[in-house]
Amino acid sequence: MTRKDLIAGNWKMHANHLEAIQMVQKLHYRLDPEDFERVDVVIAPPFTALRSVQTVIEADQMQFGLGAQNVHWEDKGAFTGEVSPSMLLKLQVGYVIVGHSERRQMFGETDETVNKKVKAVLGASMVPIMCIGETLEQREAGETADFVAGQVINGLAGLDRDQVAGMVLAYEPIWAIGTGRTASADDAAETIGHIRTTVADKYGDAAESTRILYGGSVNPGNIAGLMAKRDIDGALVGGASLDPDTFASVVRYWM
Ligand code: PGA
Repeated sequence: MTRKDLIAGNWKMHANHLEAIQMVQKLHYRLDPEDFERVDVVIAPPFTALRSVQTVIEADQMQFGLGAQNVHWEDKGAFTGEVSPSMLLKLQVGYVIVGHSERRQMFGETDETVNKKVKAVLGASMVPIMCIGETLEQREAGETADFVAGQVINGLAGLDRDQVAGMVLAYEPIWAIGTGRTASADDAAETIGHIRTTVADKYGDAAESTRILYGGSVNPGNIAGLMAKRDIDGALVGGASLDPDTFASVVRYWM
């Protein structure tokens, strides 16, 4: 089973729609069509920039996948401030980041709401990028494997094998996000291998198709070592995705 590499830029709360257009155009300019044969490249700007970025992608026939950073699980209704899966789909959003640790820690998301969102995203024919990862305290207490396995089982609850096969998981140890402190490639691969085994125990062969990314201070200097690991299928990149030159170097990790 070959899994195509996926490198996603999570812009978080950065870039207004005009800045976003420039960033996408610069990134496009720095990549070759062949790069996209090797790697799926996804850009996840803030909601306010999705429409502009979509228009540029379409007009210039760029090969980027468009991602959103969050979603609500209901399709419509009295949910002030929320955005639904069908609204994103209409903007040609293909991927939705679900359960990022910043949302879990600052906005009260739980495994249960993450699971609802994953189901809603799949129901709208988009691909969830479901984030999981332990705190520093949990790592130091030796609880990483059990904790992350629990997040995986709960987050995927109720899905069938085909749905799991088409999912993307992102292992992002919280202590490595935005800190400049990356998990070593060996540590990342060990936990990601464990995640794949957890998926396989419940969903069998589907686990061979599920793409599992690493995230947390990924940059042009550490990406190649991470990608050399068989179980690591790509990266979810925050800070280093904001500069088109830097992000292009991450995408072209083999050069
Ligand atoms: P970082 O963020 O690359 O800035 O550490 C990664 C993420 O939060 O997805």
